[in-house]
Amino acid sequence: MSNIREPELPESIEVKRTDPVYMAHAYLTKVPVAAIVPFIEAFTEPGQLVLDPFAGSGSTLAAALAVGYDGVGVELDDAYVALARQAIPRLARLT
Ligand SMILES: C[S@@+](CC[C@H](N)C(=O)[O-])C[C@H]1O[C@@H](n2cnc3c(N)ncnc32)[C@H](O)[C@@H]1O
Repeated sequence: MSNIREPELPESIEVKRTDPVYMAHAYLTKVPVAAIVPFIEAFTEPGQLVLDPFAGSGSTLAAALAVGYDGVGVELDDAYVALARQAIPRLARLT
């Protein structure tokens, strides 16, 4: 018997470019937080740690925080680290 569960993901996730969370900052390759949350919920168990090794503006970490997970991010560019530090709590609150 296997305890591996089938991930449950929505058929599609629509986030408009006018969404206040999406518009919260101008980072170029940002991923909408609302599009990340279902993946965290589908592929992790509550209490697990979310790792984003290419954190950019911190969208994945904001999504984790928004649904009660801790997250760790790695980002090469100091400017994006500064942006993510500011954006993560704000994005998580708006989500
Ligand atoms: C596509 S962006 C990530 C966007 C992120 N998902 C978001 O929504 O903001 C990829 C990021 O990975 C960073 N990066 C590239 N190579 C890296 C490395 N070796 N270690 C850490 N970060 C790296 C880049 O600076 C860039 O900010």
